[in-house]
Amino acid sequence: MGERVFAVLGVFAGPDALLDAASKLEGRGVGKLEAYTPYPVHGLGEALALRRSPLAGMVMVMGTLGTAAAFLFQWWMNAYDYPIVVGGKPLASWQAFVPIMFEVTVLFSAFTAWLGAVFLLCRLPGLWHPMLSSSSMPKLTRDRFALSIESQGRDFDAEATREALRDAGALETEVVRFPPAPKPASLTLLLGLAGAGALACVVAGLATYWTIKVFPTLPPMSRMLQQPRLGAQRSSSVFAGSAGFAPVAEGTVARGRLPYPFKTPEEAAVLGNPLPRTKAVLAEGKRRFDTVCRVCHGPLADGKGTLTKAYGASPADLRTRRYQAFPDGSVYHAIMSGKNAMPSFAKALTEDERWSIIHYLRALQRAADAKDSDLP
Ligand code: HEC
Repeated sequence: MGERVFAVLGVFAGPDALLDAASKLEGRGVGKLEAYTPYPVHGLGEALALRRSPLAGMVMVMGTLGTAAAFLFQWWMNAYDYPIVVGGKPLASWQAFVPIMFEVTVLFSAFTAWLGAVFLLCRLPGLWHPMLSSSSMPKLTRDRFALSIESQGRDFDAEATREALRDAGALETEVVRFPPAPKPASLTLLLGLAGAGALACVVAGLATYWTIKVFPTLPPMSRMLQQPRLGAQRSSSVFAGSAGFAPVAEGTVARGRLPYPFKTPEEAAVLGNPLPRTKAVLAEGKRRFDTVCRVCHGPLADGKGTLTKAYGASPADLRTRRYQAFPDGSVYHAIMSGKNAMPSFAKALTEDERWSIIHYLRALQRAADAKDSDLP
């Protein structure tokens, strides 16, 4: 009987006796009170003067931290470290940050609630509690109610505590001791666990292989593979010359697209802007310029876009005399073919969009070098 005393346990007949004893003993300085009952008993928390759980506060703090972290992270990336205009929106567009801020708040809160409850409050890696060695435990999960007074310190008088519990109405009392330290896990157990893990990996690998490689070759899945179809570059009787597919007829142009034969800005100079210079066309040109060209050439086409520094190239200042005299067709050619670091926008923009950008570019050039006669 050398082990230290963990607590003295008093067993009571019913919840009322337990509540009564708890309120009698609480605050008398006998030691830390704890109750063990087969089901939750109303009013017990108050009788034992339990503190509120700190979990809500922990979740609140970590959740707020998550919101702030998500905001700062997105602001740093989008507005500071790698600023790129998307769809003409401002760089620090907080509305677009909200979904991720929400997600990260939930993530931080959920993990705090889970880890906090399991590891901090329930002390998880330990699967054991001294009270589990009490001989009254089986009764306490059935029809008995117990109050324990934990020793906590060294000068604990087990006999006096037993007396106090008996006075408070306990039917029987028990001194619960710390059981001897449990044996460390044996080598066989560790080897067994490692073996089981390895086996699980092998089984999962084989199952994955079977699902991906074998399962699709079994009926009815296999019927997808066996249906008649024409493989690429195979012969067939459908087209003349037994070719599997007919080549495109010479001179074919996709609907809505004009052939673009020019190779240099000088050649393309023969093209004229087919769009009228109306308010609607200029507005469309501005919209397109701001979404596509502005990031490099800048809002005023002076070559001072936000991407310039990070991108390492210097986009042309399109307001200079040289580009004021640059024919419309040559600007069109730059948009179609790109030039050095400037990519082609043949796919990203329709023909009308390209020409409306050119109208708007002319307006920017005129505004940069405005004369009195330009005023309305
Ligand atoms: C990715 C950045 C980038 C974007 C976007 C961009 N440009 Fe450029 N642009 C450049 C660079 C860099 C040059 C200079 C190329 C050189 O001379 O090496 C240039 C040059 C030009 C030139 C002069 C071409 C010449 O032959 O001298 C024109 C005109 C032009 N850009 C128009 C536009 C228009 C219009 C748009 C929008 C449709 C646009 N650019 C979008 C980077 C860009």
